Amino acid sequence: MTESRAFPRFPAGFVFGAATASYQIEGAAREDGRGPSIWDTYSHTPGLVANGDTGDIACDHYHRYPEDVALLRELGVDSYRFSIAWPRIVPDGSGPVNPKGLDFYARLVDELLAAGIEPAATLYHWDLPQALEDRGGWRVRETAERFAEYTAVVAGHLADRVPRWITLNEPWCSAFLGYSVGRHAPGAREGRGALAAAHHLLVGHGRAVEALRAAGVREAGITLNLDRNLPATGSAADRAAVVRADTQHNLVWTEPLLAGRYPHTEEETWGELITGQDFRRDGDLALIGQPLDFLGINYYRPIVVADAPHREPDPALRTATDNRYAEVRLAGARHTAMDWPVVPDSFTDLLVALKERYGDALPPIHITENGSAEHDEVSPDGAVHDRDRVAYLRGHLTALKAALDAGVDVRGYYVWSLLDNFEWAFGYGKRFGIVRVDYDTQRRTPKDSYHWYRAMIAAQRD
Ligand code: FCB
Repeated sequence: MTESRAFPRFPAGFVFGAATASYQIEGAAREDGRGPSIWDTYSHTPGLVANGDTGDIACDHYHRYPEDVALLRELGVDSYRFSIAWPRIVPDGSGPVNPKGLDFYARLVDELLAAGIEPAATLYHWDLPQALEDRGGWRVRETAERFAEYTAVVAGHLADRVPRWITLNEPWCSAFLGYSVGRHAPGAREGRGALAAAHHLLVGHGRAVEALRAAGVREAGITLNLDRNLPATGSAADRAAVVRADTQHNLVWTEPLLAGRYPHTEEETWGELITGQDFRRDGDLALIGQPLDFLGINYYRPIVVADAPHREPDPALRTATDNRYAEVRLAGARHTAMDWPVVPDSFTDLLVALKERYGDALPPIHITENGSAEHDEVSPDGAVHDRDRVAYLRGHLTALKAALDAGVDVRGYYVWSLLDNFEWAFGYGKRFGIVRVDYDTQRRTPKDSYHWYRAMIAAQRD
């Protein structure tokens, strides 16, 4: 029996959900007119993804979505966050729309609605059409315009049935992992290109919000991976390193989105690089800072930051990670299979600090991802007793409730992820699912964490 007394209680109407993303689960990479994305190119480049894994087949969700929606229904979630693959809708990045791509998401949405589940769609979870990357990708402003066009097409088709829309997922990863450290597609290692990408992603967000409004959607927002940066020691140097890390991971997004300004240059070491760049145009801040109905936040772990004066930034590669601070392992904490420390209190602290900084300018929040990769084992009885994941979820939902109690307006929580899936450069080796996927047979097995989450949701309704 599950101990219901251990479940945190959330206010009536609080949304519980589960999340996935297109390239990580769909497979069917060359089916029904889908064009190639930067992640197809990246994953097919030898040596970039662990084990040579690709998203060609993934969880075969493209064909098995009815089974996956049935798992969601059984779980009892209010909402399902999925992403739409841009290269299924506009295979060449611009030009003709692919009706079969639109049709897939229409069928998925209908299946969800029939199961009583609210769809929440992310428009960009990193699978940029390769044709657009070939023309400059997010380094160029044109990509933001193409994104707005694609958004208008999708929203025109689905706005009546999809109430919640997320423009971008974690633009920090797209800009900095993608264009400066090369650990994500397109695998570029540039300084200026990454900064231009960060700006054009924000411009694309603003243009997409306009398109969503024009289509009459109920809720429009963006998802950020905001970091809780902790100083490695109490030294002034480490505390200053935290300010730099905060600026580059968080303020670069939250300041233009929520405060209508770029981060203060005094607080950042690459300030002079971002200030006065020709990619900024008059009117961009107003576009980027349009009111949002919600802010999506993905949270997994705190980051412990130490000053690293010995790492003189290379001017050509002056980036978020090569910037006079280093990440330090947190002693004493349990670490997940990603080697990420488990510190639920940091989740509360992040949300409370955000509220303190932005006050009434902070829109209602949805936690659009939270979860953990663990070293799952299949027991002889066929079950997956993922005790560590259950403890992680329990700890973080309790920490989330503490943030609500402290006055932060959080409206929903989506567990990452419904399914084990393609974990980007880590391939299939890292399992975040509350449902196990056997990649040889595509068999789905709900783990103990699935049963725990189901009971937790059910307990809210007692
Ligand atoms: C986030 C991504 C998501 C998944 C989790 C573990 O950064 O948005 O796709 O990979 O991390």
